[in-house]
Amino acid sequence: MIKESYGITVSRHILDSQRLHPEATGDLSGLLSELIVAAKTISAEVNMAGLGDCLGQAGKTNIQGEKVQKLDEFANNAIKRRMAASGYVAIMTSEEEADAIPVVAGQEGKYTLAFDPLDGSTNIDVNVSIGTIFSIHRAHNGGLPGGEVDLLQPGRQQVAAGYIIYGSSTMLVYTTGEGVHGFTLDPTVGEFYLSHPDIRMPARSKYYSVNEGNTAYWHPEMHRYVSHLKEVDRPTGRPYSARYIGSLVADFHRNLIVGGIFLYPRDTKDTTKAGGKLRLLYEASPLAFIAEQAGGRAITDDGREIMDIVPDSLHQRVPLIIGSKLEVDLAAEYFAGKS
Ligand code: AHG
Ligand code: MN
Ligand code: MN
Repeated sequence: MIKESYGITVSRHILDSQRLHPEATGDLSGLLSELIVAAKTISAEVNMAGLGDCLGQAGKTNIQGEKVQKLDEFANNAIKRRMAASGYVAIMTSEEEADAIPVVAGQEGKYTLAFDPLDGSTNIDVNVSIGTIFSIHRAHNGGLPGGEVDLLQPGRQQVAAGYIIYGSSTMLVYTTGEGVHGFTLDPTVGEFYLSHPDIRMPARSKYYSVNEGNTAYWHPEMHRYVSHLKEVDRPTGRPYSARYIGSLVADFHRNLIVGGIFLYPRDTKDTTKAGGKLRLLYEASPLAFIAEQAGGRAITDDGREIMDIVPDSLHQRVPLIIGSKLEVDLAAEYFAGKS
């Protein structure tokens, strides 16, 4: 049922947050608003994907060595073009592009933007939830052209991060370091309304998300941890249930709302991804910021907090263990060989 009024729009929410910071110039609010416009464009395209010539591959391979889908390309261009002349960013980087993306000369702003234009590409053609992930940092020399050094900042220094999930409804989830807030798009009016204020991730859960088809390639600690989750022990709610969508943003969103742990460890499946599959700047770091802000935790499987990793390259991959705090704490013990 459509309500007559849904209350707070995302624009109102962003402005209200800005008012809490008298020193704010409004540039971050402007950046987020522009990004939301791009997200609405992508959402509309995703929703109609089966009707236009939008499904399938674009006929190229990206810097990640993955086949580019037409919608990956559409989403990448939608964000890039929207932001390049916005006046809010100094430099950008995208999962789909080998090099850092400069903005229009004279339009350099204060912030940097890293984004995964469309996450879960293998789910595009089969109408399963996909998403866009973004991460915002302050550029070192705001107003001047940015360089790679501006983009290679740890997650801990993020100013904002979030994602848009194109699911049964389109939702925006973001944080500026003051909690995590979720908004649902009403496509009939083209407006995001606050539907999930101050999201808290349950500390415990009974769900785990992992590509179990990779079991043969896991390290022993990972084997032991997942075996533990599958043991029968009713007082601790085991065995846990498995939920793996194959779109990080959708798996993460599920765990954010109902609790759970997502794992993509180091493995021996592909030597080019031996250090983990998921990308630090576009996937791990922004979701880690959201997880921490919602009371969760994000680590690697070799004892590092995702938020503290200083990136050494734009497309760096990391092992990612993320989700409910107590579940991640226990996984960390297993990975350290303590359990
Ligand atoms: P992307 O579509 O942006 O390249 O990301 C795909 C990622 C992520 O969304 C998902 O969690 C993971 O790849 C799935 O990997 P497997 O197919 O190896 O399970
Ligand atoms: Mn991705
Ligand atoms: Mn992607």
